[in-house]
Amino acid sequence: MTADSSILRCNDLAVGYGDKPVMSHLSFTLEPGKILAIVGPSGCGKSTLMRVLGGLDQPIEGECFLLQQNLVTATAREKEETLKQTGFLFQGSALFSSLTLRENVEMPMREFLKVSPAQIRQLAEYKLALVGLADAMDKLPSEISGGMAKRAGIARAMALDPEIIFLDEPSAGLDPITSARLDELILKLRESFGTTIVLVSHEVPSILRTADFCVYLDPDTGTMSAYGPPKTLLQDQSNRKVHDFFFRPTIS
Ligand SMILES: Nc1ncnc2c1ncn2[C@@H]1O[C@H](COP(=O)(O)OP(=O)(O)O)[C@@H](O)[C@H]1O
Ligand SMILES: [Mg+2]
Repeated sequence: MTADSSILRCNDLAVGYGDKPVMSHLSFTLEPGKILAIVGPSGCGKSTLMRVLGGLDQPIEGECFLLQQNLVTATAREKEETLKQTGFLFQGSALFSSLTLRENVEMPMREFLKVSPAQIRQLAEYKLALVGLADAMDKLPSEISGGMAKRAGIARAMALDPEIIFLDEPSAGLDPITSARLDELILKLRESFGTTIVLVSHEVPSILRTADFCVYLDPDTGTMSAYGPPKTLLQDQSNRKVHDFFFRPTIS
C-alpha cells in the first residue's frame, strides 16, 4: 500500500497549548478500517493528540492528514467537510443531560443532514438499536448506566455514518464485563461499516482485544516511544516502560 491510501497520517507532529508542546515528533499512519489505540500514563497528552488528529485543534508543528485532507492548510470549509465524515466520543461521554438519548443522536443529524424530521428520527432509532439501546431511546442520560451512556455516545459519534471515529477512553470506569461488551461493539462497528477507529484506552485486555496498532506516548521523553501491533509491543522486552504498561497489575 502507498502512503496515500492512509486515512490518517501525521508527520513530525507536535501538539500542545500555546507554543508549549505536550508531545513532539509524532509520525505514524493508519490505513482505513484499522483500529489504533493511543496509550500512555495519565496527563501525557492522549486527549490533546486525539483532538488534533480529529481536526478539532491545530498542531504546534508538523503535518496531519485526515481523510487525505491536510488539516494545517485546510480552509474552514474544507475542514467542515472533513469533520462531517468524522465522529467523536469525548472523554466522559458528555451527552446533553436535558435531551433524551434519541434527541442526543438526532442533534448532529439535524445540523448536517437535509432530510425530514421523520427520517432523522428513524435514523437515530436505527443508530441506537445498533448499539443495543432500542429500549432506552426516550430515557434521559441521568436514567441510564455508565455503560449505556458510552453506547449512546458511540451512537451519536456514528450519527453521520463517519469514515472514522475517535473514542476518548470509552471503557473508563466500566466494570470488566461491560467493558468487554463495549469492545465487541467497537469490533462490530468496524466489521459492519468498515469504520476506522482511533481510541484512547488504559485497559490492557481491551487494547489486546480491539487494537491493530498501538502508539505509546512517553511523558519523560515527550514523544512516542513505541508504535506497532499490541501483541508485538507486549513481547518486546527492550522498552521497559511499554513492557511495564502491558504487565502492570490491573487497577480497578
Ligand atoms: N486546555 C488546556 N490548556 C493547557 N494545558 C492543558 C489543557 N488541557 C490539557 N492540558 C495539559 O496538557 C497535558 C496533557 O493533557 P491530556 O491530553 O488531557 O492528557 P491525557 O489525555 O493523556 O490524560 C496535561 O499536562 C494537561 O494538564
Ligand atoms: Mg485524556
